[in-house]
Amino acid sequence: MILKGKHILVGVTGGIAAYKSAVLVRELKKQGAEVKVVMTEMAKKFITPLTMATLSQNPVLVDFFDPENGAWNSHVSLGLWSDMYVIVPATANTIAKMATGVADNLLLTTYLSARCPVMIAPAMDLDMMAHPATQQNIETLRQRGVIIIDPDEGFLASGLSGKGRMAEPESIARAVSDYFCSKEGSLLGRRILITAGPTYEKIDPVRFIGNYSSGKMGYAIADALGWRGATVELVSGPVQVKAKCGNVKVTKVESAVQMRDAATALFPDCDGAVLSAAVADFAPKSVADVKIKRKGDDLKIELAPNPDIAATLGKMKKPSQFLAGFALETNDEMSNAKAKLQAKNLDFIVLNSLQDKGAGFMVDTNKVSIIDVSGAVSDFPLKSKLEVAEDIADKIELLLKD
Ligand code: PMT
Repeated sequence: MILKGKHILVGVTGGIAAYKSAVLVRELKKQGAEVKVVMTEMAKKFITPLTMATLSQNPVLVDFFDPENGAWNSHVSLGLWSDMYVIVPATANTIAKMATGVADNLLLTTYLSARCPVMIAPAMDLDMMAHPATQQNIETLRQRGVIIIDPDEGFLASGLSGKGRMAEPESIARAVSDYFCSKEGSLLGRRILITAGPTYEKIDPVRFIGNYSSGKMGYAIADALGWRGATVELVSGPVQVKAKCGNVKVTKVESAVQMRDAATALFPDCDGAVLSAAVADFAPKSVADVKIKRKGDDLKIELAPNPDIAATLGKMKKPSQFLAGFALETNDEMSNAKAKLQAKNLDFIVLNSLQDKGAGFMVDTNKVSIIDVSGAVSDFPLKSKLEVAEDIADKIELLLKD
């Protein structure tokens, strides 16, 4: 609910991508925003006001006056109501009018009187998009502070393929939430390091020692902290997941040594770290230059211990910094987790056990206990990894307040 309490005005103009504005409204509502919609006459031909009114849970505004009762739809109060005005799609025509100050419909008069940030997602045929007039108009708006969500390349309604396809509604919604996260949030001004995913320890050019970590838990923590305004340095092993929040900067690594090097370089400039990566404790002593061929029955690979990243950061930790780790256990969970908390000089440890159904690797859920350095234990029920990440973010906020 990153947009809880935010008033977002969605302006819809007459382009085929108008149908995607319905998905944008739904995404914004899902994030907790209150949404109002203003449409041009032409937009009504592509998507009905009824659809937009139903999704936004507010009447849709099109005319300066209500044709039924003559009530004035005040563009001034609409502009003042809005925390952000998002125009999707923004046609070449509307962009040109915005750039030149034409005020011949409610969407445009609202733009001219809005005091809030304005975002546009241009959508048009590739040649219209590439035309110097359109490019110049977009540049004019950019220079006036309008946030431009660049169109994607791809299949266009004309049958042609190229740049002009409106950005997907999910990424426009993300740009809206990223805007507010970078301006406000309970962790604004904080920099937090996260490690996530597995490490791969090379055996030869085609094989490695790895584990089942998908990165879902670590990326959820990174997003949760980023959405609260923190700048997140995410050091990630090889994973398929992607960070959703724009405040998350990802450094990709493969081995434990690379993860250690990246984490130790970043940690001194951070307020703290959460180490959720499943780091291989051992790596092959030597890496074969060529693929190891099958010879005889057994293959012996000698392993050497990897650096303990958590313990290394625990030694580097300054009094102003916090350090949190995870404990993935299969037995004697509580005592093992408490031992790791002490040995690695952590402020708290998040225990998850493979004995619990729906917890641990790969799944979208987790069941954790947070154990404090004071010995206090908070048990949480099975939740989505994003909800677990929110609980961890709450704990971090408390630590940083002290
Ligand atoms: O990625 P997912 O599929 O979403 O799965 C999430 C998870 C199960 C990987 C995650 O919730 C989790 O438990 N991560 C820690 C896994 C682990 O390696 O635990 P551990 O008990 O072996 O390690 C204890 C702590 O020391 C951890 O914070 C770990 O990151 C850290 N460590 C361990 C070894 C090492 N060489 N360096 C470390 O920093």
